[in-house]
Amino acid sequence: MVNVSTSYDYLFKVVLCGDCGVGKTSMLCRFISDRMDHAYIATLGVDFKLTTLEMKGKTIKLQIWDTAGQERFKVLTTQYYRRAQGILLVYDITNEQSFENTANWLQMIQENAMSDVKMMLIANKTDVSNSRKVTTHQGKQLAKDYGMGFLETSAHTAENLSEAFSTVTESILKNMQNQFDEEVFSPFLSINKPDSYQKQESSCSC
Ligand code: GTP
Repeated sequence: MVNVSTSYDYLFKVVLCGDCGVGKTSMLCRFISDRMDHAYIATLGVDFKLTTLEMKGKTIKLQIWDTAGQERFKVLTTQYYRRAQGILLVYDITNEQSFENTANWLQMIQENAMSDVKMMLIANKTDVSNSRKVTTHQGKQLAKDYGMGFLETSAHTAENLSEAFSTVTESILKNMQNQFDEEVFSPFLSINKPDSYQKQESSCSC
């Protein structure tokens, strides 16, 4: 089970997207409360849950948005991509169509999300490997083509769920700290850096 602390250093927004039935709600419930509902109840629009992670000495509050996979909610759900710093694009390893449809999801992400959004491709339902239709190799290759990280998970067994959420959180944190370093240090670097400035001083004859 994960904690929700009231004080935190950063608030990050992460969105779960992918076809209906791939297991987004189940992944989130398993990760947040270590339980899962086996009955399929389609998400209507969007839902969200909060959790807190400790990472690199910082307390990070994660707001995780679970978006509906159904076509009729797309106009609504894509609004949430805009505010996301991280996105987990999920498919079901037992459903080839959900794997193929990741291309459509990616296009919607590209059209709506921030350009520096951190993304991962998630292959869910590894516990039913006897019904597997999409190989690990196919998943890895697609993630490589998309230029994003890849993990295989199971909401049933909780395999790799913490890893998925902590990996995307770590990427967001790293990206944010890099931007901060650039903003804070680049003016100093441009003042201190040039050798010519120091040479001028040392060669001053007066
Ligand atoms: P939408 O809300 O319609 O977008 O669906 P969703 O992606 O949120 O799927 P949901 O979590 O509701 O899961 C759909 C069905 O798949 C449910 O019956 C779950 O019990 C089942 N399921 C989800 N994750 C797993 C998993 O890792 N393994 C197995 N075996 N079943 C899973």
